[in-house]
Amino acid sequence: MPELTHLQTPLASPEATTRLAQRLAPRLVAGDCILLQGPIGAGKSHFARALIEARLAAQGLSEEVPSPTFTLVQTYGDGLAEIWHADLYRLNGPADIDELGLWEAFDSAICLVEWPDRLGAYAPQNALSLELAPTAKPGERMARLSYCAPVWHDRLKGLGLQDGD
Ligand SMILES: Nc1ncnc2c1ncn2[C@@H]1O[C@H](COP(=O)(O)OP(=O)(O)OP(=O)(O)O)[C@@H](O)[C@H]1O
Ligand SMILES: [Mg+2]
Repeated sequence: MPELTHLQTPLASPEATTRLAQRLAPRLVAGDCILLQGPIGAGKSHFARALIEARLAAQGLSEEVPSPTFTLVQTYGDGLAEIWHADLYRLNGPADIDELGLWEAFDSAICLVEWPDRLGAYAPQNALSLELAPTAKPGERMARLSYCAPVWHDRLKGLGLQDGD
């Protein structure tokens, strides 16, 4: 198993989070998964919405991106890839994951997953973990990124991320 790489960057405002999502968006391909971690209100949906809107806008598309809090999953297509935005907070168990078709989506779509701890040991091994941690400064988050899959070296290159711990 390759070792875990940790990177981080402060996000001073919601707009900074939007910019990180916008820069990452065009680099993603089907089969990529981002596990969005952090407490309630950390900005997981904010990040996912910005990323999905950027993917759609790049293809001249625009769509409402509601939070999947109650539907568990919202799906989008930008013509290049299917995009799944999942919020597993209200997941009842692994049977729900089967029913949603999430296992297949991990292979075939770009997946953005809030509350991925609900997946237990079943979270995709090749995923990027992105934790948004509130800091003492209002409106600021520390983004902590970690991954094992070497493919993320390229995906994250040049984004101004620092070595994390
Ligand atoms: N630096 C920041 N990055 C992202 N959002 C921020 C930041 N600072 C403040 N916010 C605000 O925090 C809120 C984040 O809400 P959001 O719904 O994205 O949280 P969430 O992590 O998805 O919560 P939940 O666990 O309930 O789904 C938004 O109102 C956003 O404007
Ligand atoms: Mg959310």
